[in-house]
Amino acid sequence: MCGIVGALLNRGQVLAGMIEGLRVLEYRGYDSSGVALAGSDGLAIAKCAGRLEALECHLEASPAPPARAGIGHTRWATHGPATDRNAHPHKDGTGRLALVHNGIIENYLELRAELAEQGHEFLSETDSEVCAHLIGRELELGGTLVEAVARALKLVRGYYAIAVLYAGDEPELVCARQGPPLCVGLARDGTWIGSDVLALIPHTRDVIYLEDGDLAELSTSGVVVRDATGALVERELQRVDWDVNDASKGSYAHHMQKEIHEQADVLARTAFHRLDEEHGDVRFDESGWSDAELSGVSRIKIVACGTAWHAGLVARYMIEGLARIPVEVEYASEFRYRQPLCEPGTLAVAISQSGETADTLAALRLAADLGARTACICNVAGSTMVREVQSHILTQAGPEIGVASTKAFVAQVVVAYMLAVRLGRAQGVIDAEQGRRLVRDLRLLRPGLERLLSDEMVQKIQAISQRHKGVKGFLFLGRGVNFPIALEGALKLKEISYMHAEGYAAGEMKHGPIAMIEAWMTSVVITGHGAMAEKVRSNIEQIRARGGPVIAVGADQASLNLADEAIEVPASSVWLSPILNVIPLQMLSYEIARMRGCDIDKPRNLAKSVTVE
Ligand code: M6R
Repeated sequence: MCGIVGALLNRGQVLAGMIEGLRVLEYRGYDSSGVALAGSDGLAIAKCAGRLEALECHLEASPAPPARAGIGHTRWATHGPATDRNAHPHKDGTGRLALVHNGIIENYLELRAELAEQGHEFLSETDSEVCAHLIGRELELGGTLVEAVARALKLVRGYYAIAVLYAGDEPELVCARQGPPLCVGLARDGTWIGSDVLALIPHTRDVIYLEDGDLAELSTSGVVVRDATGALVERELQRVDWDVNDASKGSYAHHMQKEIHEQADVLARTAFHRLDEEHGDVRFDESGWSDAELSGVSRIKIVACGTAWHAGLVARYMIEGLARIPVEVEYASEFRYRQPLCEPGTLAVAISQSGETADTLAALRLAADLGARTACICNVAGSTMVREVQSHILTQAGPEIGVASTKAFVAQVVVAYMLAVRLGRAQGVIDAEQGRRLVRDLRLLRPGLERLLSDEMVQKIQAISQRHKGVKGFLFLGRGVNFPIALEGALKLKEISYMHAEGYAAGEMKHGPIAMIEAWMTSVVITGHGAMAEKVRSNIEQIRARGGPVIAVGADQASLNLADEAIEVPASSVWLSPILNVIPLQMLSYEIARMRGCDIDKPRNLAKSVTVE
């Protein structure tokens, strides 16, 4: 949730690179930020509440001393509100040691009481400050910084990624991870750390992902890593292929807007190289799956959170409908605590943009303990999830910076469709002819997506948004494979415009939500396919009969004709319609939020990657 950067350089000044890293990481947490620098005069700390610009203004007014070593942080508050004092870094009692932390120290109250009794004074309400004092206390007892950190962390219960800077004769930097991610970048000008590879890309592509329990001691020319047992370990050096421009807004006003408009390319990048038109099949080379392995899958459990959970719901319709394998979709946060059962032959599939969501990781580990084979559909190649599962499929959407997920969702649904085809082929449920048709349908989807992303469509959605931005609330309705799209449309609007919105299965409307219908409650209805189209038309009629305005989205012309506002979506197979239908809903949320003056890329109270419970 919080962002961490740091570096020990062999030349130059560290501050500018750290601020650059924090700017990239601000999407992880953005209620306060700070830096600590270790120079010849000891430790200098600058930190303040508010966005990163506040810290930059502060540093402009009171410039920091030159330094080659430093750590920095952007915060998403867990313990104590977003104030200057609670902002990281935190110091120990000696004032020579500074620490930044992402995670939660669960036993911080006991530790704080014990330290207070020993005379330690605390300046903040955070759990993190306790760690700084603990490490400082251990260091006073003797040994090196890395030994003191190791001893202190043995006393800590909880989840953390920490970076500890010590201003001695030579600055020292140690970091550790238990839960939230942390990676080390080996650059020409020194060694960098970041809670996300995006922060390292401006400096290097050569990255080491730390594993749970790792403790890393940085030097200006590399890193020494010890595992949880204290043994020296070699962690694989990996080359990151994301481009630094992927993480910029380019000419767009917001990351979310850029990410919405990238989706035709995301489809091509995620799918086209995997489509085997000749055999009517899909290749997931990185998964290592054989036909024999997939034909033994008798049940699928999907675990995920938020938008990724919606992608899981779409996947259920696709896999059950096309491959005829029973699928259950669970909130990871529920699955992990409800004593679930996994029958033999179960494949547990986690869906996650970040690959670091704490609940999803825990659910996946539980499924593995229960004997399931594990897989994930994930957007981040070096993430914890990708490294822990038996098989993975990368969504290849590129970095997603906007807190509200858009292109990652579409990529997840595209992968879900391909997975349904692959499973159906492996199990002999889909023959080569049907496989060819399904694969061809996906290949032909791109022009439809491009049409939805045209200027003409943007203008149309802006006009509709203008007319509906002031209503009391929104009801999103969809059926079948488009029911999860109704849920996703409502979530998007809630997240970035803070308007009340609910997603419902259209067939459920009469069982309650119809009571909400009135002139100031807009219903966004996703039109149906085949026999379902008529049923959705009835829903539209029923809403209109009660004076409720309707925005219809989809390809069924008769439904569009009945509505007050019609957003026509190109025709496709029913299975691919969610990929098209979700685009206008994303655009509607974006435009309404923009017109209401909301902070689209950094919505209040949210963080991109939920690495704590
Ligand atoms: O990184 P993940 O896909 O595991 O994240 C899961 C959810 O936290 C995420 O989808 C969240 O719901 C987004 N804010 C949705 O826009």
